[in-house]
Amino acid sequence: MARSIWSYLATAAALLALKATSGGASSYNGLAVTPQMGWDNWNAFGCEVDEELLMNTAQKMVDFGLRDLGYHYVILDDCWSDGRTSNGSLQANAAKFPHGMRYVADQLHSMGLGFGMYSSAGKYTCARYAASLGMEKQDAQTFADWGVDYLKYDNCYNEGQEGTSMLTYNRYKAMSDALVATGRPILYSMCNWGMDYPWNWAQTMANSWRMSGDVYDSFDRPDARCPCTTYDCRLPGFHCSVMNILNKAAPILNKAQPGAWNDLDMLEVGNSGMTDDEYKTHFSMWAIAKSPLIMGTDVTRMTPQTLSIYSNAAILAINQDPLGIPALRVWQSPAQRQNETYSVDAYTASETSFWTGQLNGGDYVAAFVNAGPGPATMMATMNDIFIDQVTTGSNAPVPQLMQTWDVFDLWANRMSDASAQAIIVGNMTMATNATDGSNATSTLPVQTYNATATSYADGLAANDPALLGVKVSTMAPMGTLVAQVPGHGVVVYRLRSQGGAGRRKRDEL
Ligand code: GAL
Repeated sequence: MARSIWSYLATAAALLALKATSGGASSYNGLAVTPQMGWDNWNAFGCEVDEELLMNTAQKMVDFGLRDLGYHYVILDDCWSDGRTSNGSLQANAAKFPHGMRYVADQLHSMGLGFGMYSSAGKYTCARYAASLGMEKQDAQTFADWGVDYLKYDNCYNEGQEGTSMLTYNRYKAMSDALVATGRPILYSMCNWGMDYPWNWAQTMANSWRMSGDVYDSFDRPDARCPCTTYDCRLPGFHCSVMNILNKAAPILNKAQPGAWNDLDMLEVGNSGMTDDEYKTHFSMWAIAKSPLIMGTDVTRMTPQTLSIYSNAAILAINQDPLGIPALRVWQSPAQRQNETYSVDAYTASETSFWTGQLNGGDYVAAFVNAGPGPATMMATMNDIFIDQVTTGSNAPVPQLMQTWDVFDLWANRMSDASAQAIIVGNMTMATNATDGSNATSTLPVQTYNATATSYADGLAANDPALLGVKVSTMAPMGTLVAQVPGHGVVVYRLRSQGGAGRRKRDEL
């Protein structure tokens, strides 16, 4: 029987509605549509936590312009608690937090910041404090009552409830449901170190998942306590170097999407175990991989170099790009040796790699990583850069290959040490959306950005120069991208098409 026009229209409308709800930037709870940013005490302070530390850090985040760059959450990690009250509710250690947690949340909120809290999907936290397995509903409600905006949820003492994706899923889903049931928007950050492949199943119930054992403040030092060099790992461990985590992340980065991110772990920038180039590489690669960017250093004692890395708005704009697509590793040389799960990561000694990712509005990010000890001249062809366009629907022409691209160096307008120092000693507040195109040798005004006033999406749409870096070259159709990359260093470019061979200017018609 022939279908009526109304039935076709109804089907078309249903498909359109499906398209409207299935694509685009959203998440199961509406949060972390771009990767979350903030600070966590663990990397720099471990268990030495108290109210004063959080308040002092928060104040400096505001004073240094870090809040306005997007570092929103102040996350209190392990060791804050003192067991449970007689009715079973978690309680704060009164010596460390004399005014209680509601007070901490209120203070942070009054400063325009969010409050992050920590527990574990186990009987105890990793430092053996009371944790939330079996207590999810009560603990989620306690956090909501305190005004918590973010939960980091660890994996210690899980009483054997792991080893299959379903066991781990169920354990983490219990807290996800409990948080949603409170009615308070609480960003949910899973910390199960990649066990049972969370990148395959966490998108519908968490905003991010750790994909590795704990980072430590080393660029590439092998450590027996972090034995795995691939994502397929039964002993995530800790003391994982930046290169170890980056290589483990490479094959799974495409599993991220708006609202659900691979978490490469908190940043070590500023903790003095790496060189400036190594920290730039760490920061850049976490950013373009679309990892949450959680500062892990003592903000109150930042050096100018540390502040200027965390404040690079041109790199942050890649991380916060509205499209939410992670950059991917296109090639690695020499090829990473497979099947050596327990080998030391000695292959990083001469390793170079090239990464690209699509950005909103047709731009691309391209990054050269040189993990070798000395400088390297690195090159990528247009076929490398647009590999996904070349290989997807490959019977169609690839317009990008025939276009001319402006190349913007995203570290060329790094804030000078003098400017950063002036901010640190309080002589200067951050300039809002400075537009002087200053470069690394310039001083004032500071080339940075205020994302509280103008979102990264709006700033990018308006071509704010603080977000674009410095144009250093153009790449002709079928051209090659070249970079001089220091040892243990990175070069990150934003590529913007001039319009392409097919699109002539009016006066050429
Ligand atoms: C680890 C976690 C770290 C930190 C620590 C606290 O399991 O990965 O980021 O939270 O526990 O004990």
